[in-house]
Amino acid sequence: MSFKHRSILDTIPGYKQGKPAPAKPGQRTFKLSSNENAFEPLPSVAEAITSQATGRMNRYPDMRGWAVVERLAERYGVEAENVMLGCGSTEVITMLVNLVAGPGDEIVYPWRSFEAYPLIVAGAGATSVQVPNLPDGSHDVDGLIAAVNDRTRLVIVNNPNNPTSTSISDADARRIMQAVPSDVLVLFDEAYIQFNTAADTSVAMDLFREYPNVVVAHTFSKAYGLAGLRIGYAIAPADVVEGMSKVALPFGVTETAQVAAVASLDAQEELDERVRAIIAERDRVVTALREQGWEFPTPYANYFWLPLGERTGQAAAAFTEQGLSTRVFPGEGVRISVGEPEANDLVIKVCAELKAQGL
Ligand SMILES: Cc1ncc(COP(=O)(O)O)c(C=O)c1O
Repeated sequence: MSFKHRSILDTIPGYKQGKPAPAKPGQRTFKLSSNENAFEPLPSVAEAITSQATGRMNRYPDMRGWAVVERLAERYGVEAENVMLGCGSTEVITMLVNLVAGPGDEIVYPWRSFEAYPLIVAGAGATSVQVPNLPDGSHDVDGLIAAVNDRTRLVIVNNPNNPTSTSISDADARRIMQAVPSDVLVLFDEAYIQFNTAADTSVAMDLFREYPNVVVAHTFSKAYGLAGLRIGYAIAPADVVEGMSKVALPFGVTETAQVAAVASLDAQEELDERVRAIIAERDRVVTALREQGWEFPTPYANYFWLPLGERTGQAAAAFTEQGLSTRVFPGEGVRISVGEPEANDLVIKVCAELKAQGL
């Protein structure tokens, strides 16, 4: 059917969700395609949901999620007015883009990066200015700076970058902050910050305290393992938060998600332990693959990137065949999440076989 609509949306593909674990009767298979947390929810979080949220499903949630907001404000030493919750950090980023940009405005970001960026920018009717990553998968900081002009309304830094898992240094992040005019916001999307072990990494909250135009996006989906509940947040200047709240989906963050977030903040020690276990698994896989002769950027998130170019399809097929779903970027590479130890063993095994085949 032909219908009147915004033609800019015809120019971009829709968001593709990571594939589920391949179906292989009689075989355990694993989903390593969405950078999720392989640990099941903490019992204390599940219990909090049952005891505090289930009985309130007939009521709308607190629209601003003050219980979570106040906990986060306390944790980061900011005012509650600096915290905005969203239905995952995807919604937080969407609010910010809708607040700052419309037709004729430009949003500068690295590419390849989080697949939602182009969709969100197009959704606002604004123009994406994609700055290709350097050959090692890291942000081209000079390129990002050079792309900023009078039409720029937002610069996005993704640290660690999805899908390349690279980290940006504090020095490079500061170069960006020095170069961008102070009335243009810079978003630091730190969805995977808890996994970032790079010694020189930029920490966006430090920049937030020094520059007036920094927005930080975090999520409960990854290190906190709440991807299915959809809750993330921004730390931003108070007037930015006020603007974001005007374009937010009203009541978008459910009561269940809010209760789970508070319970997760209460269980920080246990969650930190899980993060350390995931990092240890990541490093185990990296060491094994490097010993096999694989070359890829050192990962700083809960996934790693194999830049395979033309050999991507062959590798992807081998992973699927062995019961692993990965994120495939045809002609570019494969992104593989760190999963259960058994899944990671399988990754190492498939990689060894691929190497033996001369990949
Ligand atoms: C870089 C990056 N930012 C943000 C998100 C959004 O996560 P969520 O909406 O679940 O908070 C993701 C999810 O994969 C991501 O990779």
